[in-house]
Amino acid sequence: MSVERAASANYVSLDHCRTPGRANVPGPSQQMVVRTTRAAAAAQPDKHNGAVHKPPLGFRQSGTTDSGAGVRLSTARASGKVRIPPIRGRTGELKVIGALIAAVAQGRGGVLVIEGPPGIGKSRLLTEVLAIAEKAGVRALFGEAFEYQQTVPFFSLFMATLRADPPVGDAEALRRLGTSADLRYWVVRDLQAAIDATASQVPLAILLEDIHWADNATLLALRSLAATRPDAPVLWVLTARTGAGGPAVRETLTALEREDARFLRLTAMTPSAVADVVQDAVRANADASLLSLADNAHGNPFLLTELLRGLDEDGRLDVSGGRAVATGDTLPRRLSDTMQQRLDQLSDAASQVVRVAAVLPDRFSAGLLAAMLERRPAALVSAVEEAVRANLLVEDGERLRFRHDLLREATRQSLPQSLRRAMERQSATVMLDMGAAPEEVATQLARSAEMGDQVAIAALRQAAQSVANSDPGAASDLSKRALELQSPHDPGRGPLVAETIVLLNRATRYEEAQRLASTTLSATLAPEEEAGIRLRLPTVTTETTTRHIEENRRALELPDVSDVTRARHQAWLAYNLAMYGQHGHDSAAANEAAAAAASTGDLESSILSGVALACFDCANGYAGRALHRVEQLQALTPAGDMTAHHLAAVHLANLLAVVGRLEDAAALVTGRREKAQQERDGMALHIWALTSGGVEVAAGRLSAARAALEWLPTPDRTGSTFVDARRMSLLAEVAARTDDRTLLLEKVNEARDAHSSDSPAVRRDAAAVLGLAAWQRDDVHEALRWLGGDISLLVTPIVPNVLDQLTLAARVASAAGDAGLRARLLDAVAVLERERPGIPLFATIAQHTRGILERDADALVGAAELLHSSGRPLLFASAAEDAGGELSRAQRNGEALEQLNAAFDTYIECEAIADARRVGRTLRRLGVERRIVAQPRAKTGWDSLTDSELKVINLIAEGATNRAVATQLHLSPHTVKNHVHNAFAKLGIASRAQLAQLMRGAD
Ligand SMILES: Nc1ncnc2c1ncn2[C@@H]1O[C@H](COP(=O)(O)OP(=O)(O)OP(=O)(O)O)[C@@H](O)[C@H]1O
Ligand SMILES: [Mg+2]
Repeated sequence: MSVERAASANYVSLDHCRTPGRANVPGPSQQMVVRTTRAAAAAQPDKHNGAVHKPPLGFRQSGTTDSGAGVRLSTARASGKVRIPPIRGRTGELKVIGALIAAVAQGRGGVLVIEGPPGIGKSRLLTEVLAIAEKAGVRALFGEAFEYQQTVPFFSLFMATLRADPPVGDAEALRRLGTSADLRYWVVRDLQAAIDATASQVPLAILLEDIHWADNATLLALRSLAATRPDAPVLWVLTARTGAGGPAVRETLTALEREDARFLRLTAMTPSAVADVVQDAVRANADASLLSLADNAHGNPFLLTELLRGLDEDGRLDVSGGRAVATGDTLPRRLSDTMQQRLDQLSDAASQVVRVAAVLPDRFSAGLLAAMLERRPAALVSAVEEAVRANLLVEDGERLRFRHDLLREATRQSLPQSLRRAMERQSATVMLDMGAAPEEVATQLARSAEMGDQVAIAALRQAAQSVANSDPGAASDLSKRALELQSPHDPGRGPLVAETIVLLNRATRYEEAQRLASTTLSATLAPEEEAGIRLRLPTVTTETTTRHIEENRRALELPDVSDVTRARHQAWLAYNLAMYGQHGHDSAAANEAAAAAASTGDLESSILSGVALACFDCANGYAGRALHRVEQLQALTPAGDMTAHHLAAVHLANLLAVVGRLEDAAALVTGRREKAQQERDGMALHIWALTSGGVEVAAGRLSAARAALEWLPTPDRTGSTFVDARRMSLLAEVAARTDDRTLLLEKVNEARDAHSSDSPAVRRDAAAVLGLAAWQRDDVHEALRWLGGDISLLVTPIVPNVLDQLTLAARVASAAGDAGLRARLLDAVAVLERERPGIPLFATIAQHTRGILERDADALVGAAELLHSSGRPLLFASAAEDAGGELSRAQRNGEALEQLNAAFDTYIECEAIADARRVGRTLRRLGVERRIVAQPRAKTGWDSLTDSELKVINLIAEGATNRAVATQLHLSPHTVKNHVHNAFAKLGIASRAQLAQLMRGAD
């Protein structure tokens, strides 16, 4: 069984976030990438003991571990082989590890976190995990986090998986994700699949060292990957310094602990273990004098090792006759001296090398060191050797590192703060000059740059953009740091704030984005800057159109805004007004915006104003013209912010569906969804899922519609954004037709909230939901209350189910005998027939609506005939139903039966059970008994669960908590709670224990 420790590929995961051009630039990345796979655990040298690896770069090997006369500390190479001193104490811990490895060997996975203060022995214990795993036939993968790689997404996770030999996961496929948004979701999904596939062949132990320095992407991935899945043979073992790392680290550990991860919290070694370590080191029985000195290490093995080395260095260890005696009772110099003093004992050249090394990345090439010192690498040979001999630096593959991180930290502390900062800043410059990507030096820059450092600001900004697609959170932090470094009066402030806001929003840190915007906006800003910020502040999915409009209007009131920015605000305003809902003609803003777009030639403005004009065209009855307009927009080459392009395509699909070209609409949706999926573009996927829901409902494919819509996250708050309202309205239609009363009730409640919105579009959707629900339960009065109220029937934007709503409103007007609604309906259908040549579907709907209002059986039969092959089966069925009703009133029973049977069959085909049942009742009155043969979704039992509910329940049954499920399925905890609640109700159970029982029974 192979046990790997994929070594120091410092730049392991950078490929995917570099621009293609950049990756080809020769620089330190290439020089420094080490792609070796280290030997198995037994040969895995303990990095802290200085006995490491073959000597690279021509440095002489001898002396690396020689510790002076008489005594050979256990770190020495015996006959050329590395000997790791045995692990001492830690029996309890080893037992736990042994049990977990045994369990994973038998197919049960888990999570183990080894936590403790610096130097307490976490890494040493991890080395044991490797060895035990190998013995048990468990394949171990190793990844390590570094302080300077925190901005490199998935650094340690990729090191463990993609860099393993053979790799786990497809590095090439993941690299392709480089340019896409929402990388994280797909990486996690793909990696999960790869890990599962590997684990199905051989049990896995995935070891991640020092996760207190892990990048955010790795941490987030850990939360879902390591969420306890006892059925998969994967054991995750993580080490972390107690209290170290940022909030994301703490959150991850807390989450893992909640998920029942096993924690080993290492504390001081017992005196007897200490005695053993001493004995191992001196290879003799330790005398009381030595043990009492060893007490000074307070059971910390790192300090203990240092102490022994120090005594040896100072010539105070006397080993003879199998006994080791220490002379004197003071601490050896190595411990009592400050790092400053230790460095002073080195030659000038070596001390300089060590000090400079302390401001370099955790592992660095000799080339970088030489560049920092403005020397040639060959000139450093003896200085580096001396530092290695002094046990401060060690060779790690082809690079160098400090023997222990604590030594590096101490060295860094010994530098005057101002100098340290300047040196760190210099190291960033040197690395950038050597071709490093900005994100590789981002940590250094963030820490070392001073206010007003334009180079640092530019590099941090660039780093932020380059990690934005995979780690918007880290990108936001970099961008925020760039802001901190920038003077408040810097003319570049506005754009940087706007950029940061976009990143924060993408990281769903909306409140921070808001705060940043309001503090920035409260200061005096150049109008252009203010307008730039207001352009990017509200997000399409999270803010109401009212809010969008406010921002646009405020920006447009500003004097001295550039033509392009003004044109964009005008275009967004026009678009937002169209989404807000306007009836009919008021397209002045859109026309103005289109003129401004044309005069500036700005693409974003042209697209958005074009879409807005199309929305008005369509609501004014000119759907053909609208379609043509939006089709033309597709020809514009995408550039810059993709939001406008996505929206243009979405509106095209919508309009195709509105005019009845369902197949074209569906093909467009499928193509775009596939593309978004290939590109792993989460934002686009979101919009297309909604659009797909609309097209599927229109096409009468209710299950498919439901699946697409339930894929979308449930909004946490009912703020009634346009997106939320569409989702609500479409799901309500599915629920009402398929007779899913639970879902309908949920949507009715949402609609009641949404109905108080000031947006006519949202109010129209809400009223339609409430009217439909009332109609389905035969409450004509209530239906009239909602549909006959002040809502306009043709409000922008027109969506496919507006046509269904017209005929529904006509039924209600007719049943209630309401003249007002009747008149408004007649006006509305007149609009639908305005265009010449007209849209055939619109003409038919007009005929259908008038047929209902005028109780004209023949007109209804005619409408049904025209709709029969329209691609809108539900519209056909309702025309046939209405025709059947009128025919039977006219005692034309034979013809009535024909229409009603056709309606019944079509409803059944579309799974519109509630509608079929209603037609069934009419048929019964005519003496025909029709049974609903196609089983609707069962109301209870396993078959009654929706796909989403089933997914959630499966994970819950595996022992996952709601939170873990939410993370894994990318849902909000609230949604998961709802699914669990509904599923439990359908399964007739009330607890997880009962679920487990039920599952056992189901096996
Ligand atoms: N149980 C043990 N028996 C013998 N030696 C040990 C033991 N634990 C740790 N050591 C030695 O002590 C030194 C420090 O241990 P280690 O590097 O594992 O600490 P750590 O907790 O990983 O520290 P850090 O937080 O700095 O990474 C190493 O040289 C290691 O080999
Ligand atoms: Mg360690």
